[in-house]
Amino acid sequence: MEGHKPKKPNIDTLMEKYPRHAQHLISLLQDVQAAFNYISPENLNLVCDYVGVPITQAWSIATFYKSFSLEPKGEHEIKVCLGTTCHLKGGGRLVECCERDLGVTRGQTTEDLRFTLETVNCLGTCAMAPVVMVDEDYLGGATIRTLKKRLEKK
Ligand code: FES
Repeated sequence: MEGHKPKKPNIDTLMEKYPRHAQHLISLLQDVQAAFNYISPENLNLVCDYVGVPITQAWSIATFYKSFSLEPKGEHEIKVCLGTTCHLKGGGRLVECCERDLGVTRGQTTEDLRFTLETVNCLGTCAMAPVVMVDEDYLGGATIRTLKKRLEKK
């Protein structure tokens, strides 16, 4: 039996939810970000045309807010902590392992759009160092083995 495929998001359907007015720019960009996981140049243009806002204005908003991404993001986000404590406890080896296994460097997304690899300076849970966050979950005392296991489940 064929599995249920999630419906592809449609930019027109997203835009039609809002009146064509500049005041809806940010809400619309939030919806595009949520639906596509990033805001492509094409979608940014379409949104600007729709609400009647110059592309430069939308661009500066999209680059200002951290919650918006203008680059494709993976379905899962891996954040390896390289703060002082995590670094001393082997965070660097965890990043290298991810880079090797996923075929990306930090800040990049895998070609199949499954994973985005990021490094951060401190996740605020130094007592559990080294720490990796996979989506919303913290993996404390991470080792290459436990990290690989966690990623295999994704
Ligand atoms: S240094 Fe990694 S959680 Fe603080």
